[in-house]
Amino acid sequence: CGIVGYIGQNDVKEILLTGLEKLEYRGYDSAGIAVYNENEGVCIFKDQGRIAHLRSIVEDVPSTMGIGHTRWATHGEPNHVNSHPHQSANKRFTLVHNGVIENEDELREKYFDGFNFVSETDTELVVELFDQFFNQDDGDIEIAIRQLIKVLHGSYALGIIDHENPDVLYAIKNKSPLLIGKGDGFNMIGSDSLAMLKQTNTFYEIDDLEYVKITRDNIEIFEMTGVKVKRDPFVTKIDANDIEKGVYPHFMLKEIDEQPFVIRRIIQEYEKDGKLQIDQEIVDTVKESDRIYIIAAGTSYNAGLIGKQLLEKIGNKPVEVHIASEFVYNTPIVSKKPLFLFVSQSGETADCRAVLVKIKKLGYKSLTLTNVEGSTLSREADYTLLLHAGPEIAVASTKAYTANIAVLTILSALIGDNMNHEELHHELSIVATVIESICDEKELFDEIAGKYLKDTRNCFYIGRHIDYYVALEAALKLKEISYIQTEGFAAGELKHGTIALIEKGTPVIAVISQDEINLNTRSNVKEVKSRGGNTVVISQKSISQKTDQVIIDDVHPTLTPLVTIVPTQLIAYYAALHRDLDIDKPRNLAKSVTVE
Ligand code: G6P
Repeated sequence: CGIVGYIGQNDVKEILLTGLEKLEYRGYDSAGIAVYNENEGVCIFKDQGRIAHLRSIVEDVPSTMGIGHTRWATHGEPNHVNSHPHQSANKRFTLVHNGVIENEDELREKYFDGFNFVSETDTELVVELFDQFFNQDDGDIEIAIRQLIKVLHGSYALGIIDHENPDVLYAIKNKSPLLIGKGDGFNMIGSDSLAMLKQTNTFYEIDDLEYVKITRDNIEIFEMTGVKVKRDPFVTKIDANDIEKGVYPHFMLKEIDEQPFVIRRIIQEYEKDGKLQIDQEIVDTVKESDRIYIIAAGTSYNAGLIGKQLLEKIGNKPVEVHIASEFVYNTPIVSKKPLFLFVSQSGETADCRAVLVKIKKLGYKSLTLTNVEGSTLSREADYTLLLHAGPEIAVASTKAYTANIAVLTILSALIGDNMNHEELHHELSIVATVIESICDEKELFDEIAGKYLKDTRNCFYIGRHIDYYVALEAALKLKEISYIQTEGFAAGELKHGTIALIEKGTPVIAVISQDEINLNTRSNVKEVKSRGGNTVVISQKSISQKTDQVIIDDVHPTLTPLVTIVPTQLIAYYAALHRDLDIDKPRNLAKSVTVE
């Protein structure tokens, strides 16, 4: 979910709605705003559906302060009643919430025996609890906030309006992301900077268990004890134009096309004194560790699998890759001097953060690889490496995947001695050029998608060696946006069971980039073909055969995932387009998942 709030001079509705549009990547099954008007008090507009729908139901109430929310359902199905904002039964307080209250049942039992809640959400519980504390504490709102922080367990970023005091906006944070935007004559709260970028580029970070009191011209941050905190603001470099689609029909296509530029920007950002460099302390820490544990989720996990290949083959360092949500509760035996490498586009994934909290307690070192400067995982890890990919808006991640691999290539080269500076620079530049030529072939991928994926129920990506890991990401991309049940499979393993699923017309797409597995994977393609499957081969030029449908110019053998993934991204894009689906906002998903 995402939250936004504004208190200032201008009409708040448009500010909240545009802010929510920028937060829609965090969830989009319902949305709502609450605005304060002198004559009518707090007016709430909310419903199931997208921000576009919310826009159509918002009435013309003049107002200069309000809060908004876009939801990814956790407690209770997406419907009107469960949408935020939620209001206390006596109408004194209205709030929006991103996160999950873990001790919800316990709190309901302790404080609300027999109370009739309107919705199924944990958020309604929070607003009623807050109201209860407020009344117990003789109407001192700050004492009520502190009391609330004491009893709530779980994650929350809360924006609160007190109907009796509409010149102040309150916010509280624990675990869920929250930034304060500082303006001239106005101030804002938001789940991230993108939600506020149209109004300001100056922000304050808020730490866990802190609360904030915001007026039109003042921002006060407090610890949960009530002690005031002094904090300097920071200015973000992101341009408001970076988060617009421009001439593209979808963000996903724009972001796929941006990949050559992103690789070049990474080269530029990491180049100092004519050499690709990473802060020496980070390089030394990685070198001194005896094993790297990559922790990630989703596409970032798949990028981590490629990272292992790079760090081991180029960097000579043993690596394990773990799914964050598994590692946290089923932690394996860890080596003596581990380094934990968190790979996270958003830097906010709660599953990763749970691991970070755990390994910090154990005294282990951590490094975060993220696209978002100042994100939670970046702030809380010992070190950060940035992706410099620019904001990624489409829910299906593309340029962050390649950016992760590019930065991990640089790190690998710097910790090992298998690739010198000139080679590294040269090889990454070739990659950028090859991606460019793949992106110029859009008709080909449109045609493949139209021919094989328009009406299919299922699909397979197969590969061996490093291509297997690409197959996993290719499959994830296709299922995320086209809803085709797709599996990424080790080509040689297919015959040991899964080949039973191949029927006449089942699409099987093979990725072949490595010489030593070329003929083996081709045999597996033949096995599928002879059972009626529709096969497509994506190969590197030097090992290609005339009949291969997609032939990619050669790049360094360990860097092939940076290029072989691109046709699969475009195939996924066009498959979803042919199936007439919502490409940038696929059903049930959210880009940044801040709950475990
Ligand atoms: C969500 C998104 C995925 C993403 C994953 C990890 O599930 O839908 O696309 O790969 O989170 O996100 P992160 O920001 O940690 O890379």
